[in-house]
Amino acid sequence: MRVLDLFLPVAAAYGALAASFTNSNNTSTSAHGTLTFSHSPNITRVTINNPPINLYTATLCSDLLDFLQQFNASSPSNSSLPKVVIFSSANPSFWIDHWDLTSLIAPTPPTTPSFTTNHSRVINLIRNLTNVVLIAELDGLATGVGNEILTQMDMRFAGPGARAGQIEVSAGVLPGSGGAQALPRLIGPGRALQYLLTGESVDAETGVKLGWFNEGFGSGEELRARVDDVARKIALYPIEGVAAIKRSVATTRAPQQAFVDDTEAFAGLVGLSEVQKLLKKFVQLGNNQTLSPFELGLDATLSELYE
Ligand SMILES: *[C@@H]1O[C@H](CO)[C@@H](O)[C@H](O)[C@H]1NC(C)=O
Ligand SMILES: *[C@@H]1O[C@H](CO)[C@@H](O)[C@H](O)[C@H]1NC(C)=O
Ligand SMILES: *[C@@H]1O[C@H](CO)[C@@H](O)[C@H](O)[C@H]1NC(C)=O
Ligand SMILES: *[C@@H]1O[C@H](CO)[C@@H](O)[C@H](O)[C@H]1NC(C)=O
Ligand SMILES: *[C@@H]1O[C@H](CO)[C@@H](O)[C@H](O)[C@H]1NC(C)=O
Ligand SMILES: *[C@@H]1O[C@H](CO)[C@@H](O)[C@H](O)[C@H]1NC(C)=O
Ligand SMILES: *[C@@H]1O[C@H](CO)[C@@H](O)[C@H](O)[C@H]1NC(C)=O
Repeated sequence: MRVLDLFLPVAAAYGALAASFTNSNNTSTSAHGTLTFSHSPNITRVTINNPPINLYTATLCSDLLDFLQQFNASSPSNSSLPKVVIFSSANPSFWIDHWDLTSLIAPTPPTTPSFTTNHSRVINLIRNLTNVVLIAELDGLATGVGNEILTQMDMRFAGPGARAGQIEVSAGVLPGSGGAQALPRLIGPGRALQYLLTGESVDAETGVKLGWFNEGFGSGEELRARVDDVARKIALYPIEGVAAIKRSVATTRAPQQAFVDDTEAFAGLVGLSEVQKLLKKFVQLGNNQTLSPFELGLDATLSELYE
C-alpha cells in the first residue's frame, strides 16, 4: 500500500472520493498490518496490534514511520490530515512492549541497520512534529522502547491495566531513544532514577500520582470516553495555534544532542559480551518473546536474569 493511501479515508470523511480499500467503517490498515486506523473528522484513532506481545519489531517500527512521515511532509494546515492522533492497543496486556531483542543479538540480522535508522526517524518525528497532537491511551504494559515512545508523546491517559517502566538497566544498557531524558522531565530526576535504575514499573494510580500519566480511570470505557473528549476539544481549534503551543512547550525537551549521545551510548554497550549474554537469557526466559509468564510479569520477573 502506498503511504499516501493511509490518508485517503480522511479525505473521504470530507466528502472526497473514497479509496477502494476503505471499508464502510472508515478504517484502514498499515502495510504490515500492525496498525489499524479509524478516521473521523480531524481525529485518527490508531490501534496497535502486533501479536503476541506488541513487541517493537522492525515491522511495527516501519508501519509507525510510514504513518508519522505524512505529517512531516505536509504543510502545517493540511486539512486532509488529522489534528489529533490517539494511540491505543488491541492487546489487553501490552501497549508497546520492549525492542525485538533478536535484532540486537550477534550475529545481528541484515535488517538491523534499517530497523534502527527507521526507529531514529520515528522518535525524531514523535519529538519534532508540531502539526499533530499525539495522545497515548494506555491500558497495558509500556516498557523499554514502549515507554520511551509513551513518554515522548504529548499526553498519556491510563486505564486499569496500565503499567509503564524502563527495563534496560537489567540488560546492562540504557534507554537509547530519549527515555532517560523524558522521564525526569515528567516525574523529576530522583524518582526517574529510581525507576531507571531498578527497572520497576508503575501502575495507573502511582503513575498518575507521579505525573508519569496525565489522568487514570477505573475502566477501559471511562478511559476511552475521556480520551475521545480531550481529542474532540483539540480537534476543533485552529492547527496553527496548536502547533505554536507545541513548539513553545518543546523548548522544555532535552536538546537533540542529548538524544544522539544516548543512542551512541546504547550502541557502545549493546555489543559487550555480558550484555549479549543477558539479552540471550531474556529471550529464553520469555519463551522467545511470546505470551509467557516472564514477559507478562515484567518488571517482577527481571531478577530471573540473575538466577
Ligand atoms: C464495521 O464494524 C463492525 C463493528 O466493529 C464490524 O462488525 C463490521 O464487520 C465492520 N464492517 C466492515 C466492512 O469492516
Ligand atoms: C496533505 O496531505 C496529503 C496526505 O498526506 C498529501 O497527499 C497532500 O499532498 C498534502 N497537501 C499539502 C498541501 O501538503
Ligand atoms: C524501514 O522503513 C521503510 C518504510 O519507510 C521500509 O520500506 C523498510 O522495510 C523498513 N526497514 C525495516 C528493516 O523494516
Ligand atoms: C522531516 O522533514 C525534514 C525537512 O524536509 C527532513 O529534513 C527530515 O529528515 C524529515 N524527518 C523525517 C524523520 O523524515
Ligand atoms: C528534529 O529536531 C531537531 C532539533 O530541532 C533536529 O536537530 C533534528 O534534525 C530533527 N529531526 C528530524 C528527523 O527532523
Ligand atoms: C475540523 O477542523 C476544521 C479546521 O480547523 C474545523 O473547521 C472543524 O470545525 C473541525 N471539525 C471537528 C469535528 O472538529
Ligand atoms: C523465535 O521467534 C522468531 C519469530 O519471532 C523465529 O523466527 C525464531 O525461529 C524463534 N526462535 C526459536 C528458538 O524458537
